[in-house]
Amino acid sequence: MTFLPVVGLDRLTDDAVRVVFEVPSGERDGFRFVPGQHVTVRVELGGVEARRAYSLCAAPGGDGVATLSIAVKELGPGGFGEIAAGKLGVGDLVDVLPPAGRFVLQEGPEHVGIVAGSGVTPVLAMAEVALARGDRFTLIYGNRTAASVMFLEELADLKDRYAERLMVLHVLSREPREAALLTGRIDAERLPELLAAASPGPEAHYYLCGPMAMVDTAKEVLAGRGVTRGHVHFELFHAEDAPPPAAYAETAKVLAEGDVDVTVTLGGRRTQLAMSKDDDSVLAALLKARPDTPYSCTGGVCGTCRAKIVQGEVAMAHDYALEPEEKAEGFVLACQSRPLTPAVELDFDA
Ligand code: FES
Repeated sequence: MTFLPVVGLDRLTDDAVRVVFEVPSGERDGFRFVPGQHVTVRVELGGVEARRAYSLCAAPGGDGVATLSIAVKELGPGGFGEIAAGKLGVGDLVDVLPPAGRFVLQEGPEHVGIVAGSGVTPVLAMAEVALARGDRFTLIYGNRTAASVMFLEELADLKDRYAERLMVLHVLSREPREAALLTGRIDAERLPELLAAASPGPEAHYYLCGPMAMVDTAKEVLAGRGVTRGHVHFELFHAEDAPPPAAYAETAKVLAEGDVDVTVTLGGRRTQLAMSKDDDSVLAALLKARPDTPYSCTGGVCGTCRAKIVQGEVAMAHDYALEPEEKAEGFVLACQSRPLTPAVELDFDA
């Protein structure tokens, strides 16, 4: 557990606040990050431990990391957003896990962010770093109204500094803009035109962050333009409910026959445990024996609980985080996995 003091709090929009934490000098090595990564905040909500992942919205400082900034949206009563907006004060301590995530800025001369709402958060940090090192950056940024646009000032500031290399296209779905192209959603009709306006070169990397429907549409549009998969990077806010694959139902049969023998390697240490039919996932079973197991969203989205299957087989209810190559190599998401064999072994260090 690392408790970081809050050193800044400011309102970004009607329903979002920025929270700035200071990283004490002794902790800075563990809190280094690359633009695009997120931290997980661990809080108690209604007497139960809850974890929420937030992308870091400011570029890392040059001298290690002295502060970490996150943007927190209020998503209704009882969440961390409500705490951040109303109860948190400067000087308060919050349990923050070290930065993680593979949605990060790539090497290359050109980058295009296609984001909606708070999906701008990781991409803003990427733009700051990319522009500072001399790259070109285009941001296609969808919001409902002008009032809901986060980081307007920061973007205007970047535009002032890097007018020739930064293009920002604000697209508003519930407010008319002067150009028809910029009014509406980032969808399969509008996105090709927006990309045509930006005319990115063949070396561009694309960063998609927002709701699943927008990310899926953008992936299809980019594939249609011949952009290779290695140049398309994405992160979802959350996943829409979808039925699990048929194989997942088989896991109930396996567990009905008796406890499953689960072995994990984590942080260089092997642990063996029994998973019962009452455990919702390998992660749930594992947390009882190894509370240090990494996780955040528990929804198959963030990839924090990624581990490699070394022995046996599992089925996942959902998977919105793994690349096809990772799956081919045997990586799974522990929060979504249940066993298909009477014994499974996972390696979190792989
Ligand atoms: S904890 Fe987020 S994918 Fe498993």
